[in-house]
Amino acid sequence: MIKIFPDVEKLNEYAAGKFVEIAAAAIKERGKFSVALSGGSTPKALHKLLAGDNFKRVIDWQDIFFFFGDERNVAPDDAESNFRMAKETLFDPLNIREDKIFRWQTELMDAKVIVENYRLKLRNFFELTEETLPRFDLILLGMGDDGHTASLFPNTEALRETEKIAVSNRVEQLDTTRLTLTFPVINNARNVIFLVKGADKAGTLKNVLEGDFQPGKFPSQTVKPTNGELFWLVDEPAAQLLTR
Ligand code: 6PG
Repeated sequence: MIKIFPDVEKLNEYAAGKFVEIAAAAIKERGKFSVALSGGSTPKALHKLLAGDNFKRVIDWQDIFFFFGDERNVAPDDAESNFRMAKETLFDPLNIREDKIFRWQTELMDAKVIVENYRLKLRNFFELTEETLPRFDLILLGMGDDGHTASLFPNTEALRETEKIAVSNRVEQLDTTRLTLTFPVINNARNVIFLVKGADKAGTLKNVLEGDFQPGKFPSQTVKPTNGELFWLVDEPAAQLLTR
């Protein structure tokens, strides 16, 4: 489903409501809510809203378990760290206990070690067997102006991963190695919400949503939950080129 909002405040209000609705349903049905947070800058405002007076008392935060859809290979207190952003805008304001937060342990330095460590966290939390995949109640995603999502960038190795649940991904265009969940995990979620704002994303959003299927060039096109809900929450500037 694609929902277009006149401005980013209304987009975040709706997103926060959806977050709470999905969380409450998951806690009611299964006693807990698992969410993979997105990085970048867009989610900051959503985090602050969730930690604000209108939402923070609406759910029992102790039943919520936080993961990360991707992470930069930097220290957890680095300005680039997705964990640090979430810590500052969500975890600290809500006093989320450390045992509810499953971050990529980038202090382990070696990308392969970090990935293996994260896979173990996922396997334990979701009680996985060799055949099963993590099934998040919600995965929050952003979309880069190059069409990437999580750290699944155009023309990178991780786009082709169909078995592993978490990988390191060499991103030549950024001259860096990123850490990311893979499409099998993203597409196994009960709910996926893309948050996309800003005119600079308009061209890419039109390609992703209305253009030819070119997943190598526009990886966000590969996000199609096999048994779950997909929400594209976009503001008017980002949606301006879409055919209504
Ligand atoms: C990251 C994010 C990334 C982000 C997009 C969009 O680690 O940077 O996971 O996939 O969602 O780059 O970022 P903005 O929403 O800030 O434009």
